[in-house]
Amino acid sequence: MLKIDLAGRRALVAGVADDGGFGFAIAKTLAEAGAKVCVGTWPPAFGILQTLLRRGKLDASRKLSDGSMLEFEKIYPLDAAFDTLDGAPAEVRENKRYRETGDFSIAGLAAQLKIDFGDRPLDIVVHALANGPEVKKPLLETSRAGYLDAIGVSAYSMVSMVARFAPLMNEGGTFLSLTYMASERVIPGYGGGMSSAKAALESDTRVLAYEAGRKYGVRVNTISAGPWASRAASATGIIDAMVEYAAHNSPLTDPMSAEEVGNAAAFLVSPLASGITGTTLYVDKGYHAMGKATAARFGTGAADPE
Ligand SMILES: NC(=O)c1ccc[n+]([C@@H]2O[C@H](COP(=O)([O-])OP(=O)(O)OC[C@H]3O[C@@H](n4cnc5c(N)ncnc54)[C@H](O)[C@@H]3O)[C@@H](O)[C@H]2O)c1
Repeated sequence: MLKIDLAGRRALVAGVADDGGFGFAIAKTLAEAGAKVCVGTWPPAFGILQTLLRRGKLDASRKLSDGSMLEFEKIYPLDAAFDTLDGAPAEVRENKRYRETGDFSIAGLAAQLKIDFGDRPLDIVVHALANGPEVKKPLLETSRAGYLDAIGVSAYSMVSMVARFAPLMNEGGTFLSLTYMASERVIPGYGGGMSSAKAALESDTRVLAYEAGRKYGVRVNTISAGPWASRAASATGIIDAMVEYAAHNSPLTDPMSAEEVGNAAAFLVSPLASGITGTTLYVDKGYHAMGKATAARFGTGAADPE
């Protein structure tokens, strides 16, 4: 039987703070496929994640199909806004949520992984994080600082991670990020430069696939996921409407699940996808293929096709 087998591989999933997002779903699927999974968690959410785990609040979602529990090999503090600790301003380093965490930068995480697991600690890196402080503002009203923050945390962080983690990878190493169709089509309400950040992330996926492919032999892909009511998506204030809209207007009308994104991720990071790099893969029930809303209730007058 053809099987996704990640036994003996170690994955780092950056962007897990609870069990409600794509990062958690991907971590779980990779564990189902046999990988060891470490996670990177934003320092402001670091203590909360530890508490949720300690109190058993994630136990139901941690259950794997063989009855065992998803165990994170290690949880690392990570603020993807910073490439090195020196680059973090004093007020961040001294903030109570940061000062006890050690080096929370991308370079700090790379160094810690080598200390913990040796010179080649990684096989798979998943970038499942994004943040846009002005996401609720239309682009026209977005400040330069808000725009640059969005693109720095949500797109440049991937460049920085590939630069620092690719040299730490075993043969067959692979990177994956998550993007959203707002990169290429207008999604009113997905503001603050987040659409620009996703466009950059997708373009960088192609360039990084080439550069890091030639230099390190690694693959770099991104999944363009449909709307899903995670914590981050809820911050946009439009996610419930987007989920409903997608369900009404996609070729497949059952709601997309985070597990479907996890399954596609497991394939893309597995040896079965060894020929795939530089790709944006849609996992959105086919919504990206549509050019016209179908549901009469959205005022198009067109009936759903039989
Ligand atoms: N939910 C959707 O509808 C949707 C659709 C397409 C793509 N995506 C993308 O999926 C990815 C995961 O998001 P999600 O929707 O699953 O939400 P989520 O809330 O589970 O994940 C976002 C994570 O980013 C972390 N984060 C924020 N700023 C950070 C920083 N500076 N450093 C490190 N971590 C930071 C948060 O703590 C959180 O864990 C994001 O790239 C998002 O844009 C989401």
